Amino acid sequence: MLILVTGGAGFIGANFVIDWLENHDEPVINLDKLTYAGNRDSLASLANNSKHQLVVGDIGDRALLDTLLSQHRPRAIINFAAESHVDRSIHGPIDFINTNILGTFHLLEACRSYWQALPAAKKDTFRFLHVSTDEVYGSLEASDAAFTESNPFQPNSPYSASKAASDHLVRAWHHTYGLPVLTTNCSNNYGPLQFPEKLIPLVTANALAGKPLPIYGDGMNVRDWLYVGDHCSAIRRVLADGKLGETYNIGGWNEQPNIDIVHMICDLLDEMRPRVDGASYRQQITFVKDRPGHDRRYAIDARKIERELGWRPAETFASGIRKTISWYLEHQEWVERVTSGAYRQWIDTNYSERTSA
Ligand code: NAD
Ligand code: DAU
Repeated sequence: MLILVTGGAGFIGANFVIDWLENHDEPVINLDKLTYAGNRDSLASLANNSKHQLVVGDIGDRALLDTLLSQHRPRAIINFAAESHVDRSIHGPIDFINTNILGTFHLLEACRSYWQALPAAKKDTFRFLHVSTDEVYGSLEASDAAFTESNPFQPNSPYSASKAASDHLVRAWHHTYGLPVLTTNCSNNYGPLQFPEKLIPLVTANALAGKPLPIYGDGMNVRDWLYVGDHCSAIRRVLADGKLGETYNIGGWNEQPNIDIVHMICDLLDEMRPRVDGASYRQQITFVKDRPGHDRRYAIDARKIERELGWRPAETFASGIRKTISWYLEHQEWVERVTSGAYRQWIDTNYSERTSA
């Protein structure tokens, strides 16, 4: 018995693989293209673990997929591989179309032929779990109810449109071909190993480097934040007992405006790593030009996964954000390594045109 994880050198995938091997004996084959967002360093703690094998490759490479499936005969596939950053999707959507849509298509097709040829007992227990996002549901007004699994898809960015397309493909492969799929739609994750292009690690890194903390628009966009370890445990629950063809929303019951998140990071840093001049990191906050098409609010109604699978997040935001900031303080070398080279160009592309508001 073995599972195949895709995108397991990225933020959530690496946390999932590490977490899986702490909780299971079952080996993991980890297929990752090692884009700018995928890092071997994130898997360093598994260097001597014979139950983990990293295969560098693309989910769009059908020949590679066929070889991996026939060689390793996984009992489940968990698909994390994606281009995941909204701002990058605005500057260059093609990679999002290629990986999130075409890549998912090739993965589904490879799985379909592998699954169809399995003996009956293995066919029944095989699972394809697709990891997706709450962004497929679009944007909420302040007074709207939180997203449920039956909300219509109304994606607004090239990223969320590409994820919505992949969710539709997964659904269709179940209804048309009977592929035993499960889909999860999760809110914003935070925690160790997140690439510092996303709000929480970016603000932390900029604060420590004495740089401005860029807040898009008025800072009142709202996200629901979930500690990454809780996302991993939710995926394990869905994989174990989720109903085939169903989707499960995963969230932290923790809606917060961006400006509050940034204030919290500054306050924690003031306490844990005070500035040499004694001033607060809040002084570095700078309001900048908004993200085009910036979704105002996401909120997840996570009652279905609680009712049907007994899952609720374990971490509070107060404890999770403290752990996260401590992790970044203790892993400055990881930050430096993953942000060297091409990342500097990205910062220039994304922030140079955003003059202070
Ligand atoms: P990430 O960008 O940190 O990691 C993505 C990983 O996928 C990287 O290791 C990258 O190398 C790999 N990858 C990219 N293209 C590939 C390809 N063609 N073939 C193989 N590997 C490829 O992303 P993340 O934040 O860890 O997100 C993982 C998944 O969870 C994504 O599907 C994302 O849409 C979803 N998700 C993320 C969040 C979040 O807050 N980060 C929330 C909900 C859902
Ligand atoms: O909701 C789930 C999604 O959460 C995932 O599907 C995505 O993969 C993940 O990247 C995340 O998307 P967001 O766009 O919400 O995350 P990001 O960290 O980029 O931004 C969070 C909020 O902070 C958003 O409202 C934009 C704002 N922001 C972001 C950056 C990078 C800023 O104000 N300044 C910034 O510099």
